[in-house]
Amino acid sequence: MNGIPQADPCNIVIFGASGDLTRRKLLPALARMRGWNLISPDSRIIGIMRDQAWQLDAWRDYVHESLQEFHAETINDPASWESISAMLELTIGDLTEPSMYQHLRETLKTTNGKANTLFYLAIPPQWYETAVSNLHKSGLLDESDGFRRIVIEKPFGNDLDSACELNRTFREYVKESQIYRIDHYLGKEGVQNLMVFRFANTVFEPLWNRNYIDHVQISVSESIGVEYRAGYYEKSGALMDMIQSHLIQVMTLVAMEAPVSLDGNAVRDEKVKVLKSVRPIPSDQVDQFAVRAQYAGGTIAGKRVPAYRDEPDVNPSSGTETFAALKLYIDNWRWQDVPFLLRTGKRLPDRVSEIAIRFKKPPKNLFSQVEEHLPQNELIFRLHPEEGMIFLLNAKLPGLNDQLRKLALDAPYAVTGSDSPEAYETLLHDALLGQTALFSRADEVEESWRIVAPVMQAWKQHSSIRFYEAGSWDIPDMENMMDGCIGCWRDLSTTYKHGYTSTS
Ligand code: BG6
Repeated sequence: MNGIPQADPCNIVIFGASGDLTRRKLLPALARMRGWNLISPDSRIIGIMRDQAWQLDAWRDYVHESLQEFHAETINDPASWESISAMLELTIGDLTEPSMYQHLRETLKTTNGKANTLFYLAIPPQWYETAVSNLHKSGLLDESDGFRRIVIEKPFGNDLDSACELNRTFREYVKESQIYRIDHYLGKEGVQNLMVFRFANTVFEPLWNRNYIDHVQISVSESIGVEYRAGYYEKSGALMDMIQSHLIQVMTLVAMEAPVSLDGNAVRDEKVKVLKSVRPIPSDQVDQFAVRAQYAGGTIAGKRVPAYRDEPDVNPSSGTETFAALKLYIDNWRWQDVPFLLRTGKRLPDRVSEIAIRFKKPPKNLFSQVEEHLPQNELIFRLHPEEGMIFLLNAKLPGLNDQLRKLALDAPYAVTGSDSPEAYETLLHDALLGQTALFSRADEVEESWRIVAPVMQAWKQHSSIRFYEAGSWDIPDMENMMDGCIGCWRDLSTTYKHGYTSTS
């Protein structure tokens, strides 16, 4: 990729090398990055395997099969595969055994006097502490001969207390600057563009506040169900799985002030200020600020799909929410009394993710004779499908008439022929370069748990849940959340083509 720096040679050590995340996301991302020359050929991809039966050849075969399934371009091009294959190394051993870390140490490659190493913990969170304390004890986190960084996946804790505890534990072994907490939404092109859009232009800044914005809607709708992840999802539900992390992170980027620079801490300082300003949800009024529901059986894209409770490994009387929505207020000068509405769910009609900024109406409708209710202006950042921006304005229909129409200014990000990176590529590359702005800092994680804590507690105490039919947007009580906002929740099935559209 033109102008993008290649990261210095690095040992990329994957804990959980035979896991699902490694197969689906990490290996394809590394292969693409190698293809773009963003990773040095002197780097190593070291898989940690517990089973003694693994051999280097078997690890190579495993990587080959994974890429065949998830990034076949590398396999179809012998030179690309050869260049990835030459980077593969293996360390056998259990992450609880000190001897494994000794072997790992011997496997690390030193280039130009440096043994830079990125430890990717693609393992269940209950093993984080064991892995990090052993890395520390074996001296593997010492940075005297190159950087040592740890990448961790969500969930980071499962409530405020456990997240604080985990942060405390990490601090015993490793500096905050060495920890890269992944939230893959921050690696999405559309999410990164929010910052560019806000801070590389002046045109919207005067409007970006409570004087002009009625409310903000952040929606992530998925048509897939819980799939094979019931073991994890039963304990998390939509609130923890999506809102505590991804949607709240996106909200901070919409709401934050301009940072003093793009330095990781400068950006994260501003995000933390937003999180700290979120008005606590009163524990006795959770129903006014939060909605949850679970999918019943239904039809999606013409196919019958089972109810959540009938999915494999789900408790048949499960109270886990597969849909959650929150209404948050940010108590500061810019956003006082502007609702931020966050919603996400599985088994909804379509896979759509977007951020919609809905503006206030003009103070007087001069066109009431032709249009009794002027539609509000909306600025939509679309994350999926087709990342891009749409601005909805009101305009006169051309010709001899006095009709108004909605005019959609649609700007897709994708340029024909361009190859945009996946979130994991962006994030891995940033971690290799030591850029931290797209990773969550300890205080950010704690603050976002603080925001959802009253809701988690209330939902735990009252376990009864309501249902929605899979494939429908008929979520009980969802519309009540719009009280005090102009209009309804956005209809995510509407797609806008550049140009005039109906006013409704
Ligand atoms: C993950 C959640 O973090 O994000 C999943 O655990 C969810 O439940 C996924 O499906 C959604 O990510 P994306 O990038 O497909 O919107």
